[in-house]
Amino acid sequence: MARPAQTNVKIAWKPQAGPQAALVKCPVFEILYGGARGGGKTDGMLGKFAIKAGRYGKHATGVFFRQTREDLKEAIERSMDIYGPLGARWNASKNFWRFPNGARLKFEYVASEKDAKNYQGHNYTDLFMEELTQWASQTPLNMLKATLRSAHGVPCQFHATANPGGPGHLWVKQRYIDPAPEGWKLLKEQYENPFTGEIIELDRVFIPSKLSDNRLLMQGDPLYVAKLQQSGSKTLVKAWLTGDWSVVEGAYFDNWATARHVVKPFPIPDHWMKFRSADWGSAAPFSIGWWAVVSDDYPLPDGRVLPRGCIVRYREWYGCTGEPNKGLKMTAEQVAKGILERQKDKEPISYGVMDPAAFAVNGGPSIAEVMAQNSVYFDPADNKRVAKQGAISGWDQFRTRLDGEDENRPMMVVFETCKDFIRTVPVLQHDEKNPEDLDTDMEDHVADEARYACMSRPWAAPVPSKDKPKDRYREARQQTSESGWAS
Ligand SMILES: Nc1ncnc2c1ncn2[C@@H]1O[C@H](COP(=O)(O)OP(=O)(O)OP(=O)(O)O)[C@@H](O)[C@H]1O
Ligand SMILES: [Mg+2]
Repeated sequence: MARPAQTNVKIAWKPQAGPQAALVKCPVFEILYGGARGGGKTDGMLGKFAIKAGRYGKHATGVFFRQTREDLKEAIERSMDIYGPLGARWNASKNFWRFPNGARLKFEYVASEKDAKNYQGHNYTDLFMEELTQWASQTPLNMLKATLRSAHGVPCQFHATANPGGPGHLWVKQRYIDPAPEGWKLLKEQYENPFTGEIIELDRVFIPSKLSDNRLLMQGDPLYVAKLQQSGSKTLVKAWLTGDWSVVEGAYFDNWATARHVVKPFPIPDHWMKFRSADWGSAAPFSIGWWAVVSDDYPLPDGRVLPRGCIVRYREWYGCTGEPNKGLKMTAEQVAKGILERQKDKEPISYGVMDPAAFAVNGGPSIAEVMAQNSVYFDPADNKRVAKQGAISGWDQFRTRLDGEDENRPMMVVFETCKDFIRTVPVLQHDEKNPEDLDTDMEDHVADEARYACMSRPWAAPVPSKDKPKDRYREARQQTSESGWAS
């Protein structure tokens, strides 16, 4: 299709050399730009639309999205500086800019799938999503992508900015960062045109930008970097400055530490009791965990000790398509068979617990019943999430076990082969409305399943006694060197 005539409006705003200039020039369909605070993300997106507006005139139609009206204020404020001098007119009641050549940019908020549905049938050439990790799920954004179409040959683009952290940290990291953490690499998704059979490719790219890339800010406000360091925790500041996606601020399990809780696989002693926990899912992922209970203090070669009663996650099966939060849609019978296949050599499993919803009878046998018909047995798990009236609760038990008896004696560890536990649990965030609980919009299936495991064996930290050896870490090291690697 022929490109529309270019309208050549003079633009006062200029991108800064580096990632911001790359964003402005980038023709890729889907772009994630940013990673760190103050890198010039908002300016970059606003500036890019001014340039597209200048080039494509009335055929350029964009929307700048955030989750709430309040969140939009700052970007609107900054747009006055950039678009005002171009002669664009601001419509304050409808929140949009009209440029002298007819290009339009709206400022809207969309928080949910319901909000996104309101845009069905709309046509835009450019979407700008600010702070992508604030959206716990990518579904509303995928729905919005369907509005990107131009009958006039304007290249349509989906632009997003993000910092690490927030409820959407995981899916954003998985989609844009993990395939090429340094960025700048073109990633491709293929789709088949159902009418012609032709394969169509949609490109996406991550353009990383750091505070140091924003030289205007670094020079204009040399104190900003110091102020940033004062304004958050060490972890958060590190993430802001470097755009480090492995750092998660506001994690629900802030006592999780890979160095404490992940162990290299070792042969489980035969006399340790084993059990299973499960969270059922079909459209959403299911999660099965296999656990062993340490029968007596078990020293590890690195000085850690797995205390008696510690639970060791030695295997897992996560029923996910590979796309975040999408289940395999397997039947209960198929999952039961899969469980048995994974339990080689008639591994003795003492008991199993599964979410109570899987025991609901809905016109036919329940999920649990079908599993039992296939020789896989579960009892309903205790589903108490948060503490009420002093009763023990799942998340407390989970947290207490992570704390363990002391720094070197965790009461829950996972084999490093349990990738989906390690991928999903440490990044879970607090629920904004109920900080006691975690944000259930996130990928929480493994956490739920591990919570059932914890509730099946409630544990209380021992009260410190005077007789106890003071330095159990040293004692443990001694034991290790005496007995060697006990497996
Ligand atoms: N090309 C530019 N021309 C003029 N000023 C710029 C340019 N790029 C960035 N700035 C200025 O640098 C400052 C920080 O930029 P911006 O707000 O775009 O960063 P950000 O990455 O969105 O920050 P945050 O992470 O806090 O949202 C702002 O005052 C902005 O106006
Ligand atoms: Mg910004």
